[in-house]
Amino acid sequence: MSAIFPHNFLWGTATAAHQVEGHNFNNDWWAWEKRGGKIKNGDSSSVACDWSGGRYAQDFQNSRALGLNAIRLSIEWSRLEPREGEWDPDAFRFYRDMLTCLRDMRITPMVTIHHFTNPSWLAAQGGWENPAVVHHFERLATQVAQEFADLCRFWLTVNEANAYATLSYCAGLWPPGKQRFFSGIKVMANMVRAHAAAYHAIKRVQPGGQIGMAHRFQIFKPNNPRSPLDCLSVRVRDCLFNRLVFRAVMDGALHFPGGLRIELPEAKGTQDFIGLNYYFSERSAFDLREPRLFFGRRVLAPESLRCQSDFAGEADHDPASFERLLKELAHCGKPVYITENGAIEARDSDQSEYLVTHLLALQHAIEAGADVRGYFWWTLVDNFEWGEGFSPRFGLYSLDRPTQRRTPKPVAAVYSQIASENRIAPDLAALYASRADLRPA
Ligand code: BGC
Repeated sequence: MSAIFPHNFLWGTATAAHQVEGHNFNNDWWAWEKRGGKIKNGDSSSVACDWSGGRYAQDFQNSRALGLNAIRLSIEWSRLEPREGEWDPDAFRFYRDMLTCLRDMRITPMVTIHHFTNPSWLAAQGGWENPAVVHHFERLATQVAQEFADLCRFWLTVNEANAYATLSYCAGLWPPGKQRFFSGIKVMANMVRAHAAAYHAIKRVQPGGQIGMAHRFQIFKPNNPRSPLDCLSVRVRDCLFNRLVFRAVMDGALHFPGGLRIELPEAKGTQDFIGLNYYFSERSAFDLREPRLFFGRRVLAPESLRCQSDFAGEADHDPASFERLLKELAHCGKPVYITENGAIEARDSDQSEYLVTHLLALQHAIEAGADVRGYFWWTLVDNFEWGEGFSPRFGLYSLDRPTQRRTPKPVAAVYSQIASENRIAPDLAALYASRADLRPA
């Protein structure tokens, strides 16, 4: 058994500016961090992986040495536009150098324009709740496309509108720390509008650009399949978390449970490809006390099935759901890129097992007709994981923060072999496939 991937498949890793750059002192996450008590262990993003000090070149070199041919990264809005309407030429030069370095190494970039952080001036205006953000974001996308169209063809406008809106505006765990269900819905709607405006703006500058959004899908399963309320909560969470934004950029409307819809015609057909961020599935029970989380409560999986990719270790390692999802998305008629998939380092073999079982699932979906064209592991080097600080270690490389030394983990060699051969060798497949069979269906 040997699983071969399509010709020209993109093999890469994914990250985001604030998680690796360091010295991002002009955005809402820095202000949040400074409030104290918001980041686990009091960790700080101040240096991160020191990309702002030039260490991205070493990381790109490491990617190349592993045989990877692509990378997903993001630009930091607060660097490019430190004050409303003012561009910083040094910041544009910084990203130009970075993208040129990738071109010279023949690594294909996929650039995300918004990955969770906002310039302080935007946050002060109400951030994503203020409809003015649509215009600001369109202006940013135009500027970025004009500056970098010669170096980048793949764009993701917004990363995980659903996770961002939920964590920042419903659950209150991320800045601005709001806990209002309707704020979250408003933010998702504004993100769809901003995405649509950016899509058209980039197309005007670069008609051949390939533009998408990174959609987070979390597979919800009823804790008790015989409970109508658990089943209802799963349907509501799936509709609001997974499908609201996803459907809007296809058919131009936000579809709510019960048939209610809000028209957003400008968003219709505004993705050239589907960016999919998938990590795990989750058991969900109906809970009236959780209106902010769409009346669903996460239920702990049995120990043996727990997935280490989730910070709290509360979700299911579930490649079978990944495969089913990919087969379902194949019906949308758009190419798919896995823009994030990954697991944290726990025991030695965890990340490798996660990687191989999910790539086998991906391979099965491709064989069944899914048009998947790339895979980006989250992430290359252990980085700043938002409220969790540096404790979840997703990297192919570990990071010693005081010295900034990078050391490859066992999963790096496994990924390197797969990417270099563009297949999952029979011995690797055999080693992990049997374990995959034990996973939840
Ligand atoms: C986000 C990343 C994050 C990763 C791992 C994704 O939801 O896009 O920024 O670090 O998950 O938790």
